[in-house]
Amino acid sequence: MKISLAAIALVAAAEGVNAWGALGHQTVALLAQQYLLPKTIKQVRSILGSDMSKPTYMGDVALWADSYRYEEEGAWSGGLHFINGQDAPPPESCKIFWPTDCPPEGCVVKAIGNYTELLKSRKTSDAVRFQALKFVIHFLGDIAQPLHTEAYGGGANNITVFFNGYKTNLHAAWDTAIPNSIFGLLPNATITSGDALGFANNLAADINMGKYEHSIWSWLKHHNILSLSREEKAASAWAQEANLKVCDAAINIHPEKLNGTEIGQGEYVERARDVVEMSIARAGIRLAGWLNLIYSGRTGFEGIKWL
Ligand SMILES: *[C@@H]1O[C@H](CO)[C@@H](O)[C@H](O)[C@H]1NC(C)=O
Ligand SMILES: *[C@@H]1O[C@H](CO)[C@@H](O)[C@H](O)[C@H]1NC(C)=O
Ligand SMILES: *[C@@H]1O[C@H](CO)[C@@H](O)[C@H](O)[C@H]1NC(C)=O
Ligand SMILES: *[C@@H]1O[C@H](CO)[C@@H](O)[C@H](O)[C@H]1NC(C)=O
Ligand SMILES: [Zn+2]
Repeated sequence: MKISLAAIALVAAAEGVNAWGALGHQTVALLAQQYLLPKTIKQVRSILGSDMSKPTYMGDVALWADSYRYEEEGAWSGGLHFINGQDAPPPESCKIFWPTDCPPEGCVVKAIGNYTELLKSRKTSDAVRFQALKFVIHFLGDIAQPLHTEAYGGGANNITVFFNGYKTNLHAAWDTAIPNSIFGLLPNATITSGDALGFANNLAADINMGKYEHSIWSWLKHHNILSLSREEKAASAWAQEANLKVCDAAINIHPEKLNGTEIGQGEYVERARDVVEMSIARAGIRLAGWLNLIYSGRTGFEGIKWL
């Protein structure tokens, strides 16, 4: 049974949307698209059943996992979008304890391993492969959102903040208000794939001009799909890196002090925008490299002049 979009919006508002919003997820996917190798593109398009006339084939499926989790048949997947880093309440200590922070029901790190294995296996049915690819595209986005790696207040969902007067919570601000503001959009803006494509093109231009040239090798240094444990090891390292940004930027003063404050202007949001931009760029590059490893046997970033 499908529940209506209005119901989804209500549930999402009540719980805090546990994901990058529409802009973040689509931008990660569309940025990754720009770095796929030809063999990867062929496989990805074939699995997604997208025809060559669709220029945003990965962006178009990037939000599926967030609607699926609010459907009755997809409710089981809700816990796969994050990992609750049980560190001391930030900003004192930010750390992922792998594998103990991942409960038996799963988490984003295990999910990335599981769906990567399903994509690699020839035995996977078409229907499961289709889901697995949509999950991988989505979860490599989620794992890059610092507050998807933090247990405090369920990823800071319980910290009320204002964004230029718009009442939200800290988690939702990092999912939506802050990314939207990078692109000049209000927290409540309806995002089109054109917005995400514009953002992805800006990031790709920065990347191609060398903005992250000294970082890209390290963004890809854990890339390894030889076994489930290597895949989980890579994903846990990405979660750890995102989690460091919790103390560094998202919860950089005691959370009780952040509660109830206006964060739309000043040092906090300037730092946050830099972190979000880097995190989305990093996630896009990682997603491209990961899919290239699966379908072309290499990340595709070897020997590129800015590496
Ligand atoms: C892996 O994903 C499949 C398909 O969604 C699911 O049935 C299975 O339980 C998952 N395995 C683990 C260990 O999470
Ligand atoms: C948020 O939840 C945490 C528990 O994870 C609690 O310790 C803290 O007091 C809550 N903070 C606010 C501002 O409600
Ligand atoms: C979005 O927020 C702005 C300013 O807070 C408000 O003027 C506008 O009506 C809102 N739009 C929607 C669609 O809610
Ligand atoms: C957090 O801020 C909200 C809004 O200002 C307030 O209603 C709530 O009591 C605060 N919570 C704590 C634990 O301070
Ligand atoms: Zn999600």
